[in-house]
Amino acid sequence: MQREGSLYTVIFTTVLCGICSILVASAAVGLKERQQINQILDRQHKILLVSGLVSPSEKLSREGIQNKFKENIEMRLVSFETGEYATNIPVETFDPKRALKDPNLSMKAPPNSAGLIDIPKYGLVYFVKRQGQIDEVILPIQGRGLWSMLYGYLALDKDLNTVRGIIFYEHGETPGLGGEIENPKWCQLWVGRKVYNSAGEVQLAVIKGQAGSADSDPHHVDGLSGATMTSRGVTNLVQFWLSDSAYGKYIKNKKQQGSI
Ligand SMILES: Cc1cc2nc3c(=O)[nH]c(=O)nc-3n(C[C@H](O)[C@H](O)[C@H](O)COP(=O)(O)O)c2cc1C
Repeated sequence: MQREGSLYTVIFTTVLCGICSILVASAAVGLKERQQINQILDRQHKILLVSGLVSPSEKLSREGIQNKFKENIEMRLVSFETGEYATNIPVETFDPKRALKDPNLSMKAPPNSAGLIDIPKYGLVYFVKRQGQIDEVILPIQGRGLWSMLYGYLALDKDLNTVRGIIFYEHGETPGLGGEIENPKWCQLWVGRKVYNSAGEVQLAVIKGQAGSADSDPHHVDGLSGATMTSRGVTNLVQFWLSDSAYGKYIKNKKQQGSI
Protein backbone atom coordinates (compact mmCIF):
# COMPACT_ATOMS: atom_id res chain seq x y z
CA MET A 1 0.00 0.00 0.00
CA GLN A 2 1.26 3.44 -0.89
CA ARG A 3 2.15 5.53 2.16
CA GLU A 4 1.12 8.72 0.38
CA GLY A 5 -2.39 7.38 -0.39
CA SER A 6 -5.48 8.52 1.56
CA LEU A 7 -6.50 4.87 2.33
CA TYR A 8 -3.19 4.39 4.15
CA THR A 9 -3.78 7.59 6.16
CA VAL A 10 -7.31 6.50 7.15
CA ILE A 11 -6.22 2.98 8.20
CA PHE A 12 -3.16 4.32 10.07
CA THR A 13 -5.26 6.92 11.96
CA THR A 14 -7.98 4.37 12.82
CA VAL A 15 -5.46 1.84 14.17
CA LEU A 16 -3.64 4.54 16.15
CA CYS A 17 -6.94 5.81 17.63
CA GLY A 18 -7.94 2.24 18.52
CA ILE A 19 -4.63 1.60 20.33
CA CYS A 20 -4.87 4.93 22.19
CA SER A 21 -8.50 4.23 23.24
CA ILE A 22 -7.53 0.81 24.60
CA LEU A 23 -4.62 2.33 26.55
CA VAL A 24 -6.75 5.14 28.04
CA ALA A 25 -9.66 2.78 28.88
CA SER A 26 -7.31 0.26 30.52
CA ALA A 27 -5.66 3.01 32.58
CA ALA A 28 -9.08 4.35 33.69
CA VAL A 29 -10.34 0.88 34.70
CA GLY A 30 -7.04 -0.23 36.21
CA LEU A 31 -6.65 2.91 38.33
CA LYS A 32 -10.29 3.18 39.46
CA GLU A 33 -9.83 1.21 42.68
CA ARG A 34 -6.70 3.18 43.56
CA GLN A 35 -8.53 6.45 42.90
CA GLN A 36 -11.37 5.38 45.20
CA ILE A 37 -8.94 4.46 47.97
CA ASN A 38 -7.14 7.79 47.56
CA GLN A 39 -10.47 9.64 47.67
CA ILE A 40 -11.43 7.92 50.94
CA LEU A 41 -7.99 8.77 52.37
CA ASP A 42 -8.36 12.40 51.27
CA ARG A 43 -11.79 12.68 52.95
CA GLN A 44 -10.39 11.13 56.13
CA HIS A 45 -7.50 13.61 56.04
CA LYS A 46 -9.93 16.55 55.61
CA ILE A 47 -12.00 15.30 58.56
CA LEU A 48 -8.86 15.08 60.69
CA LEU A 49 -7.92 18.63 59.60
CA VAL A 50 -11.33 20.18 60.33
CA SER A 51 -11.43 18.42 63.71
CA GLY A 52 -8.08 19.93 64.64
CA LEU A 53 -6.62 16.45 65.27
CA VAL A 54 -4.07 17.17 62.51
CA SER A 55 -2.54 20.55 61.66
CA PRO A 56 -2.22 21.69 58.02
CA SER A 57 1.59 21.63 58.28
CA GLU A 58 1.65 18.04 59.61
CA LYS A 59 2.76 15.46 57.05
CA LEU A 60 1.05 12.10 57.50
CA SER A 61 1.61 8.83 55.65
CA ARG A 62 -1.36 6.84 54.32
CA GLU A 63 -1.16 4.55 57.35
CA GLY A 64 -0.83 7.60 59.60
CA ILE A 65 -4.10 9.03 58.30
CA GLN A 66 -5.91 5.68 58.51
CA ASN A 67 -4.69 4.97 62.05
CA LYS A 68 -5.45 8.45 63.38
CA PHE A 69 -8.92 8.29 61.83
CA LYS A 70 -9.61 4.84 63.26
CA GLU A 71 -8.35 5.79 66.73
CA ASN A 72 -10.22 9.08 67.08
CA ILE A 73 -13.27 9.13 64.80
CA GLU A 74 -16.49 7.17 65.13
CA MET A 75 -19.14 7.26 62.42
CA ARG A 76 -22.90 6.94 62.69
CA LEU A 77 -25.85 7.43 60.38
CA VAL A 78 -28.74 9.74 61.14
CA SER A 79 -32.21 9.61 59.56
CA PHE A 80 -33.18 13.06 58.27
CA GLU A 81 -36.85 12.05 58.53
CA THR A 82 -36.82 11.16 62.24
CA GLY A 83 -33.68 12.86 63.52
CA GLU A 84 -32.71 9.55 65.17
CA TYR A 85 -29.79 7.22 64.53
CA ALA A 86 -30.40 4.76 61.70
CA THR A 87 -29.41 1.27 62.76
CA ASN A 88 -30.71 -0.67 59.75
CA ILE A 89 -28.02 0.52 57.30
CA PRO A 90 -24.30 -0.29 57.55
CA VAL A 91 -22.48 2.96 58.21
CA GLU A 92 -19.02 1.86 57.02
CA THR A 93 -20.15 1.35 53.43
CA PHE A 94 -22.69 4.19 53.23
CA ASP A 95 -21.86 6.53 50.34
CA PRO A 96 -24.08 9.65 50.15
CA LYS A 97 -23.39 10.12 46.41
CA ARG A 98 -24.33 6.50 45.63
CA ALA A 99 -27.39 6.78 47.94
CA LEU A 100 -28.77 9.47 45.63
CA LYS A 101 -29.12 6.86 42.88
CA ASP A 102 -31.13 4.51 45.13
CA PRO A 103 -34.83 5.44 45.58
CA ASN A 104 -34.88 3.61 48.94
CA LEU A 105 -32.04 5.74 50.26
CA SER A 106 -32.89 9.13 48.73
CA MET A 107 -35.76 11.61 48.60
CA LYS A 108 -36.72 14.90 46.94
CA ALA A 109 -35.19 17.81 48.78
CA PRO A 110 -37.72 20.34 50.08
CA PRO A 111 -37.52 23.71 48.26
CA ASN A 112 -34.15 25.17 49.14
CA SER A 113 -31.65 27.84 48.14
CA ALA A 114 -28.69 25.44 48.22
CA GLY A 115 -29.38 24.10 44.72
CA LEU A 116 -30.23 20.62 46.00
CA ILE A 117 -32.82 18.58 44.11
CA ASP A 118 -32.46 15.16 45.74
CA ILE A 119 -30.88 14.39 49.08
CA PRO A 120 -30.08 11.12 50.84
CA LYS A 121 -32.57 10.02 53.51
CA TYR A 122 -29.63 9.49 55.84
CA GLY A 123 -26.60 11.56 56.75
CA LEU A 124 -23.21 10.61 58.12
CA VAL A 125 -22.13 12.03 61.46
CA TYR A 126 -18.48 11.82 62.53
CA PHE A 127 -17.76 11.93 66.27
CA VAL A 128 -14.35 13.17 67.31
CA LYS A 129 -13.22 11.50 70.50
CA ARG A 130 -10.79 13.00 72.97
CA GLN A 131 -9.89 11.03 76.12
CA GLY A 132 -12.62 8.56 75.17
CA GLN A 133 -15.35 11.23 75.20
CA ILE A 134 -17.18 12.77 72.23
CA ASP A 135 -15.77 16.26 71.92
CA GLU A 136 -16.87 17.36 68.45
CA VAL A 137 -19.37 16.38 65.79
CA ILE A 138 -18.54 16.72 62.09
CA LEU A 139 -21.28 17.00 59.47
CA PRO A 140 -20.85 16.72 55.69
CA ILE A 141 -22.24 19.77 53.82
CA GLN A 142 -22.78 20.50 50.14
CA GLY A 143 -24.58 22.97 47.89
CA ARG A 144 -24.25 25.22 44.88
CA GLY A 145 -21.78 28.08 44.73
CA LEU A 146 -21.55 30.29 41.65
CA TRP A 147 -20.01 27.83 39.18
CA SER A 148 -20.08 24.52 40.94
CA MET A 149 -21.23 22.23 43.72
CA LEU A 150 -19.26 22.88 46.91
CA TYR A 151 -18.48 19.92 49.18
CA GLY A 152 -17.17 20.26 52.70
CA TYR A 153 -17.37 19.45 56.39
CA LEU A 154 -18.59 21.55 59.30
CA ALA A 155 -17.27 20.74 62.77
CA LEU A 156 -19.47 21.58 65.75
CA ASP A 157 -18.64 21.49 69.42
CA LYS A 158 -20.39 18.84 71.53
CA ASP A 159 -22.90 21.60 72.46
CA LEU A 160 -24.11 21.21 68.82
CA ASN A 161 -24.15 24.99 68.43
CA THR A 162 -20.59 26.33 68.42
CA VAL A 163 -18.57 26.02 65.22
CA ARG A 164 -15.18 24.39 65.72
CA GLY A 165 -14.16 24.43 62.04
CA ILE A 166 -15.15 24.32 58.40
CA ILE A 167 -13.35 22.91 55.37
CA PHE A 168 -14.20 22.57 51.67
CA TYR A 169 -12.57 19.68 49.83
CA GLU A 170 -14.16 19.90 46.37
CA HIS A 171 -15.45 22.82 44.29
CA GLY A 172 -15.03 24.53 40.93
CA GLU A 173 -15.10 28.19 42.01
CA THR A 174 -12.56 30.67 40.64
CA PRO A 175 -9.16 30.57 42.34
CA GLY A 176 -8.58 33.84 44.23
CA LEU A 177 -12.34 34.67 44.25
CA GLY A 178 -14.86 31.97 45.20
CA GLY A 179 -11.93 29.57 45.54
CA GLU A 180 -11.01 31.42 48.73
CA ILE A 181 -13.47 29.15 50.58
CA GLU A 182 -10.41 26.91 50.84
CA ASN A 183 -8.28 29.59 52.46
CA PRO A 184 -7.44 28.47 56.02
CA LYS A 185 -7.47 32.13 57.20
CA TRP A 186 -11.10 32.51 56.09
CA CYS A 187 -12.05 29.12 57.53
CA GLN A 188 -10.52 30.22 60.84
CA LEU A 189 -13.05 33.10 60.99
CA TRP A 190 -15.82 30.53 61.51
CA VAL A 191 -14.38 29.15 64.74
CA GLY A 192 -16.43 30.10 67.80
CA ARG A 193 -19.47 31.31 65.81
CA LYS A 194 -22.90 30.08 66.88
CA VAL A 195 -25.37 28.28 64.62
CA TYR A 196 -28.70 28.83 66.39
CA ASN A 197 -30.33 31.72 68.26
CA SER A 198 -32.19 31.18 71.53
CA ALA A 199 -35.35 30.26 69.57
CA GLY A 200 -33.47 27.43 67.83
CA GLU A 201 -33.43 29.13 64.42
CA VAL A 202 -30.35 28.82 62.18
CA GLN A 203 -28.67 32.22 62.10
CA LEU A 204 -25.15 31.36 60.93
CA ALA A 205 -24.44 33.26 57.70
CA VAL A 206 -21.67 34.73 55.58
CA ILE A 207 -22.39 38.46 55.28
CA LYS A 208 -21.25 41.01 52.71
CA GLY A 209 -18.31 42.84 54.27
CA GLN A 210 -16.71 42.29 57.62
CA ALA A 211 -18.29 40.63 60.64
CA GLY A 212 -17.41 41.44 64.24
CA SER A 213 -15.60 39.07 66.59
CA ALA A 214 -17.16 35.72 67.48
CA ASP A 215 -18.16 37.21 70.88
CA SER A 216 -19.72 40.42 69.57
CA ASP A 217 -21.20 39.05 66.30
CA PRO A 218 -21.63 35.32 66.93
CA HIS A 219 -23.75 34.38 63.90
CA HIS A 220 -21.83 36.16 61.12
CA VAL A 221 -18.70 35.43 59.08
CA ASP A 222 -16.84 37.86 56.76
CA GLY A 223 -17.89 37.72 53.11
CA LEU A 224 -15.29 36.82 50.50
CA SER A 225 -14.44 39.96 48.55
CA GLY A 226 -15.25 39.71 44.85
CA ALA A 227 -17.14 36.49 45.54
CA THR A 228 -20.55 37.49 46.84
CA MET A 229 -22.27 34.69 44.93
CA THR A 230 -20.03 31.97 46.34
CA SER A 231 -20.39 33.50 49.83
CA ARG A 232 -24.17 33.40 49.46
CA GLY A 233 -23.92 29.78 48.30
CA VAL A 234 -21.99 28.91 51.46
CA THR A 235 -24.67 30.56 53.64
CA ASN A 236 -27.42 28.70 51.80
CA LEU A 237 -25.80 25.30 52.05
CA VAL A 238 -24.78 25.67 55.71
CA GLN A 239 -28.30 26.81 56.60
CA PHE A 240 -29.88 23.94 54.67
CA TRP A 241 -27.85 21.17 56.33
CA LEU A 242 -28.39 22.63 59.81
CA SER A 243 -32.14 23.05 59.24
CA ASP A 244 -34.92 20.59 60.09
CA SER A 245 -34.77 19.34 56.47
CA ALA A 246 -31.39 17.73 57.25
CA TYR A 247 -29.36 17.53 60.50
CA GLY A 248 -31.52 20.08 62.40
CA LYS A 249 -34.00 17.47 63.71
CA TYR A 250 -31.17 15.30 64.99
CA ILE A 251 -29.48 18.29 66.65
CA LYS A 252 -32.73 19.32 68.39
CA ASN A 253 -33.36 15.74 69.56
CA LYS A 254 -29.89 15.44 71.02
CA LYS A 255 -30.09 18.84 72.72
CA GLN A 256 -33.40 17.81 74.31
CA GLN A 257 -31.99 14.46 75.40
CA GLY A 258 -28.97 16.27 76.85
CA SER A 259 -26.39 13.90 75.34
CA ILE A 260 -25.09 12.85 71.95
C1 LIG B 1 -13.76 35.44 35.50
C2 LIG B 1 -14.63 35.70 36.69
C3 LIG B 1 -14.70 34.75 37.69
C4 LIG B 1 -15.51 34.95 38.79
N1 LIG B 1 -15.59 34.01 39.77
C5 LIG B 1 -16.40 34.19 40.84
C6 LIG B 1 -16.53 33.22 41.83
O1 LIG B 1 -15.89 32.16 41.84
N2 LIG B 1 -17.40 33.46 42.84
C7 LIG B 1 -18.14 34.62 42.92
O2 LIG B 1 -18.92 34.77 43.84
N3 LIG B 1 -18.01 35.56 41.99
C8 LIG B 1 -17.17 35.38 40.95
N4 LIG B 1 -17.05 36.34 40.01
C9 LIG B 1 -17.71 37.63 40.25
C10 LIG B 1 -19.18 37.56 40.05
O3 LIG B 1 -19.41 37.55 38.69
C11 LIG B 1 -19.81 38.76 40.75
O4 LIG B 1 -19.34 39.91 40.18
C12 LIG B 1 -19.46 38.76 42.22
O5 LIG B 1 -20.07 37.67 42.83
C13 LIG B 1 -19.86 40.04 42.90
O6 LIG B 1 -19.17 40.02 44.14
P1 LIG B 1 -18.76 41.36 44.92
O7 LIG B 1 -20.06 42.07 45.19
O8 LIG B 1 -18.08 40.90 46.17
O9 LIG B 1 -17.84 42.11 44.02
C14 LIG B 1 -16.26 36.15 38.90
C15 LIG B 1 -16.17 37.10 37.88
C16 LIG B 1 -15.38 36.88 36.78
C17 LIG B 1 -15.33 37.94 35.72
